[in-house]
Amino acid sequence: MKKYIVIGNPIEHSLSPSLHNYWIKKNKIIDSIYEKKKVEKKDLEKIIYQLKNDKLKGVNITVPFKKEILPFLDEIDEVVKSTLSVNTLVKIDNKVWGYNTDAEGFNNSLKWNNVFDYKGKNIFIIGAGGVTSSIIYNFINSVNKIYITNRTKKKAEEIKELYSYSKAEIEVIDWGDEPEVCDLIVNTTSVGLAKNENLDLKFKNYKNNHDALFYDIIYNPEETNFLKNARIRGNKTMNGKMMFLHQARIAFKIWTGIEVDICNETIKLLDQ
Ligand code: ATR
Repeated sequence: MKKYIVIGNPIEHSLSPSLHNYWIKKNKIIDSIYEKKKVEKKDLEKIIYQLKNDKLKGVNITVPFKKEILPFLDEIDEVVKSTLSVNTLVKIDNKVWGYNTDAEGFNNSLKWNNVFDYKGKNIFIIGAGGVTSSIIYNFINSVNKIYITNRTKKKAEEIKELYSYSKAEIEVIDWGDEPEVCDLIVNTTSVGLAKNENLDLKFKNYKNNHDALFYDIIYNPEETNFLKNARIRGNKTMNGKMMFLHQARIAFKIWTGIEVDICNETIKLLDQ
């Protein structure tokens, strides 16, 4: 049996098993299964050992281990070198490789149906958690300016520092403050996962701005208060469903070599 898992803590909410098992079945890959597993930091080394010994064929990593897994890896891809964030593991020639498919997944979600062209635009990133560096990775060579804010300011400054090698202009904004009106505003915090939660930002200057895109990487609930308020203001909105599907699609290709489609049936799998 070829076993794939997603590890994280918490992990109950993960829809990766539904999606990957759907693709496994659809592509008639026999003897394979994808499961979720709640782990602690102390278990990470064991997971690597299981990959090396073919007890596991592939691993996805989610919060809060995307960075913590780094010391255990033999090799990392270019995106991981920049983002310091890993979400996919595989063994190649007896070495455990760490890949980052979140960055490309986010990028593909914007390109999908020409949702948003960020070239030369101003971007406002809210949050500085595990996935934020992957999102910013796409912008460093092509946007005009990136603003970033986080409750714990030091973490936003660390992300700015991470990209100090690039030409990107990145400004850290105090938590609660808003920069000039931006073209794309991305919520990368976990605020909104619980129904009543809301960010303490008013976005007053965005009323009837039909061009600004408010993007929440959360996809469950489908419409967070961040997106609901944007919709009411007249802004464009998008949730994290497409990013989730695209990062999974790239991971599936790394493991199996198979390019899967993102069709309506796949999108519906996440409506649960
Ligand atoms: P981690 O910080 O361990 O990488 P994460 O889920 O990837 O975890 O990121 C959580 C993000 O949501 C962080 O930006 C976090 O802000 P802090 O760095 O200050 O913790 C943010 N976040 C979570 N709860 C929040 C809240 N109630 N208000 C504001 N930001 C919050």
